[in-house]
Amino acid sequence: MRITSEKDYKISRIPLYIKGLDDQMEGGVPEGHVVLISGSAGTMKSTVCFNVMYNEATKGNNSVYYSFEQPYQNFLQHIFNLGYDLSKVNFMVVTDLSGIEKEIKQMKKEKKGTIFFIDISAIRKELNKQRAKSGDWVNAIENITKKLKNLLDIKIMVIDSLSALYIHADFEEPRKKIFFIFETFRDMGITSFMISEMSMNRSKVGEFEVEDFLADGVVTLYLTERHRKVSREVAITKMRGTKCNHDVFTLSFKDGKFQALYGGQIPLVE
Ligand SMILES: Nc1ncnc2c1ncn2[C@@H]1O[C@H](COP(=O)(O)OP(=O)(O)OP(=O)(O)O)[C@@H](O)[C@H]1O
Ligand SMILES: [Mg+2]
Repeated sequence: MRITSEKDYKISRIPLYIKGLDDQMEGGVPEGHVVLISGSAGTMKSTVCFNVMYNEATKGNNSVYYSFEQPYQNFLQHIFNLGYDLSKVNFMVVTDLSGIEKEIKQMKKEKKGTIFFIDISAIRKELNKQRAKSGDWVNAIENITKKLKNLLDIKIMVIDSLSALYIHADFEEPRKKIFFIFETFRDMGITSFMISEMSMNRSKVGEFEVEDFLADGVVTLYLTERHRKVSREVAITKMRGTKCNHDVFTLSFKDGKFQALYGGQIPLVE
């Protein structure tokens, strides 16, 4: 492949659907990137990822969400509470992959995009089927995603969360394994969002301190206290191939929509 100018290599992007932030990063995340969504507890990591999948689904695009932390009942309660209208998309809870072809065929007739919510029980069944080593969760995720991708074009994948995956994946050499996980997900050609727990003192964005180097992008979510008032904040910490504003924005969620507010001071140095 010979490339002589930017025109030969146009990057398509997926917006984060955070008003006021996407335009600070050339419109969104380059397709195919592996992006870390890092934040401490309750910073709306899961919601930010769901919000991307939801908005993409209203345009007819499909995604798959692996939930290792929350059972689907709990997740749905949160989503309804936030006011999302699931009648605008195909939201499909997967607890078992057998028989899924028939359901997908039915869904293909509709214009709405599909969000597959893969419950932990579906992974367990896949592992049993493969008689895989108990730690081979990455392989199970890869197989399930490929299976779905053969049936339907999958654009986005979310892993909620990396920390929970680490618990199940039973690593002997964590750094090597994490490198393998990132490579596996990047090779699938799907834009992936990996949710990562950030320590409360903000000293690391990933558990093994290599995740941010390996990821193509890092979006950090904060809960910041000032004079006993706590506000939500968001920053694009890193985004390969993108000219972006790395300032910290206030994050608000109102009427089912995220918005980033730029209250930043004019920097003292240009
Ligand atoms: N209607 C609402 N409007 C705005 N925020 C809400 C609403 N309902 C719940 N929340 C907030 O959403 C937060 C949870 O969102 P979410 O589950 O996406 O966060 P998380 O970072 O994934 O959490 P966890 O660390 O538990 O995985 C709660 O802390 C709650 O304050
Ligand atoms: Mg969560």
